[in-house]
Amino acid sequence: MLGIIGGSGLTQLANLDVSHREVVRTPYGEPSGPLTFGRIGCQDVVFVARHGYGHTIPPHLVNYRANIHALETSGVTQIVSVASVGGIRGDLGPGALVVPHQIIDYTWGREMTFQSGGDGPVIHVDFTDPYDAAVRQLLLDVSRRIGEDVIDGAVYATTQGPRLETAAEIDRLQRDGADIVGMTGMPEAGLARELDMPYAALCVVSNWAAGR
Ligand code: HPA
Repeated sequence: MLGIIGGSGLTQLANLDVSHREVVRTPYGEPSGPLTFGRIGCQDVVFVARHGYGHTIPPHLVNYRANIHALETSGVTQIVSVASVGGIRGDLGPGALVVPHQIIDYTWGREMTFQSGGDGPVIHVDFTDPYDAAVRQLLLDVSRRIGEDVIDGAVYATTQGPRLETAAEIDRLQRDGADIVGMTGMPEAGLARELDMPYAALCVVSNWAAGR
């Protein structure tokens, strides 16, 4: 089953044939809202709005652990994250659709692991390639099949928010190698990897990053 985490501007899926909604509790608290179960065509889908259905949860307060855990316990086997980002690289202006291939994490103070210590050996998950190759390819193939001009590969810098960056901060991110900037890429991707759930992101560039 496919899990979709909707970001800013995507609090519901227009073509989702909804079967039911479920309030799911997890050992990590409550997800951003009830999970919405349904079908798109012949694909079973579970949807959750990252910022809540009323878009009231800022990026640093999203319960990423509960969202990922709830999707996993609901039978989701792969996750597509939809996120709006700012464009840093010159060819990534507003309206561009991007499937990133790498992440740099600048966030802090977020609950970023399922490992709480004391309950088993420490595990260092491999995060060399933070996104799942097969889910990335699926996003690219499907986007192209419906005629979308999708860009394959970008380095996604995840900032803490909720404020936007300064121009100097964006300069630094660019020097670090970042192509796009958003506030929710991490710890979401890392948590999915900890649970061994294939995960990839479809990013919509909503604005030029500060100073660009
Ligand atoms: N910066 C950080 N996050 C964002 C931006 C941005 O410019 N646009 C959309 N999400």
